[in-house]
Amino acid sequence: MAADGNVRFKPVEESCSSEDETDKVTPFIAKSKSKRGFKYEKLIKNEIDDNLRSKIEEIGRKNGKPVNHFLKRGIFFSHRDMEKILDSYEKGESFYLYTGRGPSTKSMHIGHLIPFMFTRWLQEAFDVPLVIQMSDDEKYFSEDLQNGEEPVSIETIREQTRENVKDIIALGFDVNKTFIFSNFEYMCPEYYKNICRVQRLIKLSRMKIVFDFDDNGNIGKINFPAIQAAPCFSSSFPHIFHGKRDVPCLVPCAIDQDCYFDLMREIAIKLDCKKPALIHSKFVPSLVGGVRYKMSASKPGSILLTDTNEEIETKINEYNADPIPERGSRDNRSKKSDVDVIYHYLYYFMKSDEFDTLKTKYDNDEIQSDDLKSELIKILKTIIGEIRQRRKQVTDEMVKRFMTPRPLNYKYKHGSNEIL
Ligand code: TRP
Repeated sequence: MAADGNVRFKPVEESCSSEDETDKVTPFIAKSKSKRGFKYEKLIKNEIDDNLRSKIEEIGRKNGKPVNHFLKRGIFFSHRDMEKILDSYEKGESFYLYTGRGPSTKSMHIGHLIPFMFTRWLQEAFDVPLVIQMSDDEKYFSEDLQNGEEPVSIETIREQTRENVKDIIALGFDVNKTFIFSNFEYMCPEYYKNICRVQRLIKLSRMKIVFDFDDNGNIGKINFPAIQAAPCFSSSFPHIFHGKRDVPCLVPCAIDQDCYFDLMREIAIKLDCKKPALIHSKFVPSLVGGVRYKMSASKPGSILLTDTNEEIETKINEYNADPIPERGSRDNRSKKSDVDVIYHYLYYFMKSDEFDTLKTKYDNDEIQSDDLKSELIKILKTIIGEIRQRRKQVTDEMVKRFMTPRPLNYKYKHGSNEIL
């Protein structure tokens, strides 16, 4: 800590906002100039190598979970301190999972499914509690308005939150191990104290660099990162962790969310807390603009969980892959699969290993984008259809149960019987 009471941070070059001549990635903008999409090799923090992957899979196998294609295919491709989480877990010390959703629209899209589906797999593989933040305040502060558009009201966002919570519940989380909270509703003293502790340690100049804030933004937006970050400290949830400050946290999220938690890793010691660990995913691309953009619910080009089978079919059939590969040396030339969004969706959503065969055939020109479409339509209709079915059964009562602060069914020292 420096004499002025503030923590000295890493130099600017190491900040999370990654911008080179092709990619811009912050929590608010993710855009690549390259036709081939994001250069994940530049965004990666630590590689998930074969060793780490098999350790995670091994634990999953012991708990009856089949290998997960998100891991196997490298969709979750990067991490921070995942080994530490596994080492202490193997010694009998548990952890909790934390992820979230900013409810910007009434329906979630298929891109949002990735972190949540993987989080569910982790929760079942490790048998750990999970907290899910609905960052409704974040969406209230967001200034991503179209020309002349009025900012959305708190009441509207609360309705969106409710609908999104139902989508999330429909993904199959266990109510006995999962707490879903809205920031507007859950601002308990312990959580707020952690937010203040975080705010006290971070300078505005640092926030401007990390989040690319300029002087015209509202101050809520600048204040918000502490609110997203503080749940990675277990004392923010007294009803679950009973004041314990050092229960380790693992955050599964898309790579653009890393910076919130990287900042917390820098100050965790000052707060007498454990550094959060992270496991990062790639982005699901948009149907409009292709692999340069991530899918966004508030912009065109997304497949929504509320889409009917006909809508799914039309959206996919109307997509035209841009087949022209970028110029470059032989090794550096784009493959068709690099630039085709339909192929990318299969990469994310086709669980079976037949995917590898399709990829080879496609790159060898034996099949075309249109041939992939029918496979994709079938898969998405099934995934969205199952969610649709389960969502119909999600009652207001269930929403209330998930969102009520309460103890979760959780053993801190698994193996022994130590319940917090
Ligand atoms: N900021 C995220 C979004 O815009 C939502 C979010 C809130 C989140 N808390 C989180 C994501 C924790 C990952 C981890 O969608």
